[in-house]
Amino acid sequence: MGTSKENKANDKKYKDDLAQKIVELKKKRNAVIIVHNYQRDEIQDIADITGDSLALSQAAIKTDAKVIVFCGVHFMAESAAILNPHKTILLPVIEAGCPMADMISADKLRAKKKDHPDAAVVCYVNSSAKVKAESDYCCTSSNAIEVVKAIHNKKIIFVPDKNLALYVQSQVPEKEIIPWQGFCPTHIRVQEQDIKEIKALHPEAEVVSHPECDPEVLAISDHICSTAGMFKYCKQTAAKEFIIGTEMGMLYKLRKDNPGKKFYLATEHLICPSMKLTTLGWIAHSLETMTHVIAVPEDVRLKAITSLKKMLEITGEPQSVVLAGY
Ligand code: 13P
Ligand code: SF4
Repeated sequence: MGTSKENKANDKKYKDDLAQKIVELKKKRNAVIIVHNYQRDEIQDIADITGDSLALSQAAIKTDAKVIVFCGVHFMAESAAILNPHKTILLPVIEAGCPMADMISADKLRAKKKDHPDAAVVCYVNSSAKVKAESDYCCTSSNAIEVVKAIHNKKIIFVPDKNLALYVQSQVPEKEIIPWQGFCPTHIRVQEQDIKEIKALHPEAEVVSHPECDPEVLAISDHICSTAGMFKYCKQTAAKEFIIGTEMGMLYKLRKDNPGKKFYLATEHLICPSMKLTTLGWIAHSLETMTHVIAVPEDVRLKAITSLKKMLEITGEPQSVVLAGY
């Protein structure tokens, strides 16, 4: 067994070699690597594009590459496949799903729609293609309020995240939001007491939380936003210390981009196991073997793209973007 210094050097060499191999495979396959903000540090380092769910959907449309390696979870790769039927979308680890997205099915949503025939359906992007196909509008954490405000129906069935639904309701009181009872197993780990305890240790720190957190946590947060919103906010504000209420993968770029500022995770256990399944080794394997191809049956895709397209229109996606196959 080597010393810890030798082990670190070996680990670095292993990762550098894999990163080099990925660069070569990327060229050979005409591929782009799109990476969510929760991915491992070394994956963020080899990304062509990093971002939140909205930015990644937009990036997937704009790229000229033939192959998109999606480093995130299944629903993100599926959204890219819905928007890009003529590109090959690869998810390096097929088991990388989002438990929240699995908390609703198209059948259950259809039943709910029957109970509220006058309601529009908004689905958070953390949902399957089949659920998107049953929805009128899609949204992400960065545009949920904007999307709900743009809808003329008073009643809105909002699926699957109850916390995002309640947050949107608090910001758009003129609507009647009917929340689905889904949740993110990672974000609900942050409790009001955690915030109070860490705030007692760092009284100057601002609390910045993701809207998937519980309402009690959001009530004592200074700023609530998507992962991309957090980068923007922490950079521009004068505050020097922050308590971050979202997945720990965010800390890497927050610290890199803001060397004079301090970031504390709201609680120790803020890790999304699905997001961490992807490794450099699996990305290289994915490009070598062209696995796992994520495709959506055409009948489902054509219905699902309508909800995504409406979202991108509301968000002000430039007119020059042509949504393939729509
Ligand atoms: P963002 O769109 O804010 O990146 O969130 C995605 C997600 O899965 C949060 O848990
Ligand atoms: Fe899904 Fe939560 Fe993981 Fe985001 S953090 S991918 S919502 S389980």
